[in-house]
Amino acid sequence: MTQSPLPPDAQADSLQRGKAYAGEGVTVYYDAPRCVHVANCVRGLPAVFRPGERPWIQAWNAAAEQIVAAVRSCPTGALHYALTGGPVEQPQVPTTVTAVTDGPLLLRGDLRLQTPAGELHEVRAALCRCGASSQKPFCDGTHAKIGWKSGGEAPAHLRGDDHPEPGQRADGARESTEQGPT
Ligand code: SF4
Ligand code: FES
Repeated sequence: MTQSPLPPDAQADSLQRGKAYAGEGVTVYYDAPRCVHVANCVRGLPAVFRPGERPWIQAWNAAAEQIVAAVRSCPTGALHYALTGGPVEQPQVPTTVTAVTDGPLLLRGDLRLQTPAGELHEVRAALCRCGASSQKPFCDGTHAKIGWKSGGEAPAHLRGDDHPEPGQRADGARESTEQGPT
């Protein structure tokens, strides 16, 4: 009988984690809709991540430790790994949230994401903030296609550091001083 490299709970999770690519002591999972082509994987381990070739992930070309490091560099969670009999990926502590200019929010940590398919336990994710992704809550790269801009700072009254002058409303408008009918 072939033993699965994943513990039972991780196996269930992996169903949502895309196509499997087996290597020596490690399996890489690739969830294509969550890849926004940042190419950290390709730059980090070009012997394994080979766009333009088939299969594009050739997990037999490197040691498991190198593959684990490359997979963990994927900011979107499009890549995951399972070590044969080894530990699962541990979440980063503390959790961090990074806003990419004109792009998604990148999260790393012990994440519980509410998705149309149910709650997903994740350690890395890129969440859409342009509103146009077809894979919400995940970014699917549409922000670049539509030229979405994250813009500058929020208006002062939304940042909470605005102190309206007397007679001025928090949204910047002047309050009327006229008396209504008595
Ligand atoms: S690092 Fe992740 S998001 Fe970037 S190209 Fe590789 S799989 Fe796609
Ligand atoms: S931020 Fe990437 S699709 Fe919305």
